Amino acid sequence: MAEIGESIEKAVSFLKKGEVVGMPTETVYGLAGNALDEEAILKIFDVKNRPKFDPLIAHVDSLRKVETIVEEIPNIAHKLSDAFWPGPLTLLLKKKSHVPDLLTSGHPRVAVRIPDHATALCLLSSLDFPLAAPSANPFGYVSPTSALHVQRQLGQKVPYILEGGECLVGLESTIVGFEGNQVVVYRLGGIEVEALEAVVGAVKVQVNTSSNPSAPGMLKSHYSPGKQVEVGNIAELLKGKDPHRTGVISFMETADVPRENLFRLSAAGDMREAARNLFKALRTLDKPEIDSIVAEYVPAIGLGKAINDRLQRAAV
Ligand code: TXA
Ligand code: MG
Repeated sequence: MAEIGESIEKAVSFLKKGEVVGMPTETVYGLAGNALDEEAILKIFDVKNRPKFDPLIAHVDSLRKVETIVEEIPNIAHKLSDAFWPGPLTLLLKKKSHVPDLLTSGHPRVAVRIPDHATALCLLSSLDFPLAAPSANPFGYVSPTSALHVQRQLGQKVPYILEGGECLVGLESTIVGFEGNQVVVYRLGGIEVEALEAVVGAVKVQVNTSSNPSAPGMLKSHYSPGKQVEVGNIAELLKGKDPHRTGVISFMETADVPRENLFRLSAAGDMREAARNLFKALRTLDKPEIDSIVAEYVPAIGLGKAINDRLQRAAV
């Protein structure tokens, strides 16, 4: 079983040996390995059981290191990196030729981000290579927002998980690419569309929902707990179901089920709190006493759009 610990040195020594380790970020925990080492990248795909057509994000701690893996940072990308890095924003930029095709699944662009997490930044600054880090969950399952989540699912397959507390954002990064000067959002996430637009004007949202994603590996069915999930009007969905065997994820309100079967994302209606709680809610209700989960969409404002996107994918 993987050790959970706070030693940057230990994590560094495993990573330098080509091993993969769990690492915290502000969004979700990542399964990290040397992004420039094909063996390490293969290990990541293997541990996650992830198809190789789904490329990985490279994490670094500085713009200087971004420049070592991308051909150029266009002005429009600079505006976004100035505004949101470190933070939950991933940029797709033309990769330098030494960046392995395995990392990008053969795509000409590499996904990069500077995470806003002190432990992650400390780890990254101790290394002279970027870290490839997909969310540290088995492919298709809900992303982990604590070290314990990682240990429960991948603990047999990794030697070490770096402890960094519970993730403060709780949703993965927003993924953005560029068509000329047009900013295109490929995955809704921790930076709101409204926040991007305040910096660069209107953006195009092109969230992929096909089961064979062309650009980002945004599969239609993803973020699924082991139970059936239905999203809609909670009272309606509960009709005909045994309340003792049904989990409920509501935004603010209570519901007619036993207390331990109810997860309110934010009783106060705070969207950030709701985002932080979503994956925890799906995991908490994924237990033997429960047959299925019903949930409701939250208002589609700010992070609400990303929350609804994840609920929709969990329900497929
Ligand atoms: O918040 C996050 O982004 C977390 C933390 C650990 O940083 N990471 C994460 O990674 O969510 P992952 O692998 O679960 O999702 C990365 C997404 C995938 O859907 C992938 O298809 C897309 O990024 N992506 C990565 N590289 C790409 C590329 N070169 N072109 C297009 N899409 C890419
Ligand atoms: Mg993921």
